[in-house]
Amino acid sequence: MWVGSGRTSEAVSKEKDKPKLASAVSDDSGYVGSDACKDCHEDQSKAFSHTSHAQLSTIRSWKGKVTGCESCHGPGKAHSEEGDPAKIISFKNKSSKETSETCLSCHAGREEHNNFRRGEHWRNDIGCTDCHSTHSAETGKNVASSNVFVAEANAQKPGFSMVKLLRTSEPQLCLSCHTEVKHQFNLPSHHKVLEGAMKCSDCHNPHGGFELKQTRLATGADAACMKCHADKQGPFAFEHAPVKTEGCSACHTPHGSANPRLLTASRVPQLCLTCHSVAHDVGAIEPAGPQHNLNAQYGNCTNCHIKIHGSHTSPVFFR
Ligand code: HEC
Ligand code: HEC
Ligand code: HEC
Ligand code: HEC
Ligand code: HEC
Ligand code: HEC
Ligand code: HEC
Ligand code: HEC
Ligand code: HEC
Ligand code: HEC
Repeated sequence: MWVGSGRTSEAVSKEKDKPKLASAVSDDSGYVGSDACKDCHEDQSKAFSHTSHAQLSTIRSWKGKVTGCESCHGPGKAHSEEGDPAKIISFKNKSSKETSETCLSCHAGREEHNNFRRGEHWRNDIGCTDCHSTHSAETGKNVASSNVFVAEANAQKPGFSMVKLLRTSEPQLCLSCHTEVKHQFNLPSHHKVLEGAMKCSDCHNPHGGFELKQTRLATGADAACMKCHADKQGPFAFEHAPVKTEGCSACHTPHGSANPRLLTASRVPQLCLTCHSVAHDVGAIEPAGPQHNLNAQYGNCTNCHIKIHGSHTSPVFFR
């Protein structure tokens, strides 16, 4: 299959010094340039002209390389002459993986997309164009700045743009398929995704990756949570072991929880005592249970053990 890699082919690079794409590749290569498509495909041409793909032909390093319509649809000279749909690459009958390969011929090189073929989306036939639209989305408008809180966000409201050529903005895009997680963001304690304060992609890479289950960034002492909660990362003189060994998910759920502070247990002592069992024998594998009483005075563990994620001064996390 022809996959839009004309930019690297020898034939094209030899002609790199010529001034314009059209004149550089029109002759016997079968390319005519995007202008030739305008008259018959007004809608696509108009929508496309607002995208960053359309800007490529104006960038110096792309001069003489195949850009525009033909970078995806292949050489269009024969098709342009009489409009025969059989003489142009069409994606109508292509599988999602084939279409994605066309995009990856240019995009695979960047870290963000390197691992697309290792992700759950690829495995489940979700391709680039399930989330992106190359010439039907509105682009170029500003994102509502009042929604920009911890990260660029884009609550979808009429009149506001779709960033990054997305078919729909987040989180609606993700929730259109992942309905099962939506209710979690309505629980009493939750990350404000539905409010537009942050996005699914702050924690997940929709393009795949090496982290937990390969699509998302890990819960642990890793970038996903630390990007925003750096103060919990340490290093501390006195680390609370599970923060480092099991990660944040030892005690928190990421999306939402009926318990305060996204905790996995409804009461703090209940959480602590799942690991710090009271009965403690020397040499046991579990961490020590508290030697102090478990009467009411001690019930609210984090009243005294305040720096529960780790401390610079107190081995029992008092300050
Ligand atoms: C002379 C008019 C004309 C020109 C110029 C033209 N097309 Fe077309 N194109 C057509 C017609 C007619 C169809 C078939 C109508 C349809 O299927 O909707 C078509 C269909 C297509 C299709 C869909 C194929 C399919 O399977 O339905 C693509 C993709 C396409 N053109 C791309 C291009 C590109 C890229 C260019 C510029 C290089 C271009 N066209 C130039 C007339 C033209
Ligand atoms: C970045 C890759 C890319 C570029 C560049 C591109 N297209 Fe497309 N085109 C697609 C894909 C993918 C589809 C299949 C529909 C979809 O998923 O959006 C498509 C579909 C089409 C169709 C079929 C009708 C439809 O909407 O399904 C036509 C016609 C078309 N493109 C014309 C053009 C023209 C004209 C240009 C330049 C102005 C162009 N395309 C630039 C990727 C591209
Ligand atoms: C000819 C090479 C090429 C092909 C083929 C290509 N792209 Fe791109 N694309 C680029 C370049 C270069 C940029 C701009 C720099 C960047 O962001 O990487 C870009 C930018 C983008 C952006 C960011 C847009 C923005 O507004 O920030 C998206 C999304 C994108 N491409 C998706 C796709 C999809 C989906 C396909 C396949 C249907 C595709 N691209 C095919 C070269 C290509
Ligand atoms: C499951 C949905 C989904 C799929 C599938 C997907 N993307 Fe994206 N992509 C996104 C989202 C969401 C963003 C915006 C992230 C942000 O706002 O920072 C994005 C951003 C981008 C960007 C701009 C940011 C950057 O890294 O430069 C490019 C380019 C891009 N995608 C290309 C692709 C390509 C190529 C494919 C297929 C190989 C693809 N995407 C598949 C959801 C998806
Ligand atoms: C077109 C439908 C579709 C869209 C849109 C979509 N996904 Fe997916 N996603 C899937 C399918 C199908 C799977 C694999 C089956 C499953 O685990 O649900 C998947 C898997 C995942 C997984 C891995 C789940 C696991 O158990 O390993 C994550 C995380 C994910 N998607 C996040 C996102 C995010 C974030 C977005 C928005 C940027 C998004 N998805 C958009 C369909 C979609
Ligand atoms: C604060 C970070 C964060 C945000 C924001 C976030 N996720 Fe997740 N998500 C995670 C983590 C971490 C996991 C892994 C949970 C686990 O393994 O127990 C996960 C798991 C998932 C899964 C796998 C199924 C499951 O329940 O284990 C899907 C699907 C998913 N997220 C989709 C989404 C969607 C869609 C959004 C946006 C509406 C989103 N996530 C927002 C961190 C986040
Ligand atoms: C994009 C930034 C961002 C990321 C990434 C992020 N958080 Fe948050 N988190 C916030 C913000 C902002 C708040 C407080 C505002 C709010 O209530 O939403 C918060 C609140 C919390 C709270 C307190 C909730 C409450 O009810 O008081 C916990 C616990 C938490 N995050 C854990 C995590 C974990 C675990 C991860 C990784 C899976 C994570 N966060 C990833 C931004 C982030
Ligand atoms: C050993 C259990 C445990 C682990 C592991 C843990 N936390 Fe917590 N975290 C708690 C408890 C308990 C609270 C509530 C403290 C209180 O009662 O005020 C809390 C509160 C929070 C809060 C809200 C209050 C504040 O101090 O800002 C955030 C944010 C938070 N944790 C983030 C994280 C992140 C990020 C990680 C992973 C690096 C993590 N936690 C790992 C037990 C844990
Ligand atoms: C996921 C298991 C886990 C949870 C939940 C947990 N801890 Fe720990 N905690 C540990 C481990 C493991 C150590 C290290 C024990 C060692 O080195 O002997 C530790 C160490 C400690 C220490 C330092 C003293 C010592 O024995 O080393 C204190 C104090 C402590 N935890 C209090 C708490 C409190 C309070 C909570 C509830 C907010 C809590 N822990 C929740 C596993 C846990
Ligand atoms: C009123 C304050 C206070 C409260 C509340 C409290 N602790 Fe402690 N905790 C202490 C003191 C004091 C020590 C001993 C510190 C030392 O040895 O220097 C301690 C020590 C510990 C230790 C280290 C092992 C040991 O016994 O020396 C663990 C584990 C611990 N507490 C867990 C808990 C748990 C779990 C809770 C909640 C059920 C809790 N604590 C509630 C004050 C408190």
